[in-house]
Amino acid sequence: ERQEEEFKMERKVQGTVRMTVVAAMITALTIAMGLVPGIPMILIPVPIILQNIGVMFAGEVLGAKYGTLSVAVFLLLASLGFPVLSGGHGGAAVFVGPTGGYLVAWLLAPMVINLVKKFLPSKINSGWIGSLVSVWLGGAVFMDLFGAFWLSIFFHVPFVTAMVSSLMFIPGDTIKAILTALVAKRLKKIVHLR
Ligand code: BTN
Repeated sequence: ERQEEEFKMERKVQGTVRMTVVAAMITALTIAMGLVPGIPMILIPVPIILQNIGVMFAGEVLGAKYGTLSVAVFLLLASLGFPVLSGGHGGAAVFVGPTGGYLVAWLLAPMVINLVKKFLPSKINSGWIGSLVSVWLGGAVFMDLFGAFWLSIFFHVPFVTAMVSSLMFIPGDTIKAILTALVAKRLKKIVHLR
């Protein structure tokens, strides 16, 4: 009886440690992706970058709680002025700059990804298509909409105008979502997560 309790406790601690370690690794991955320079876009001062792969990964591999933690640590470093954003920028001002909406969406994306999962039939959820759908909706569509919403406020342009510009990210972000869903499936198996 007592041993059973201790065993349960130990498993719980191990789980927490494992999730925290993987969260830190995904934060590091997000930082590393920032070493790849962004591709400037026409019309809007928002580049095509790789760092949102780290955010998609956080949501898909870690779930809402630890995924948010991983992204929050990254954004905290950025806000403190560490040059962790692609092109080596950082500082609290980025959150009220043109890309601010996207950055706020980065923090919310792990929650949205896992919220979408709640609405998917369990049959779809268990396969990689379920991962793809949730990562795509939460990590690409939601993110690009949210970013566009802030852009329209920032530049005083109609939401539709900002939306059309942000739509240009969808093809690239779709490829990132596919990559995330495929790699996350293998990673979860290796690290025995959830
Ligand atoms: C920054 O470095 O200040 C943030 C850049 C945000 C870029 C957004 S993330 C979603 C969309 N997909 C991209 O490839 N770029 C934009």
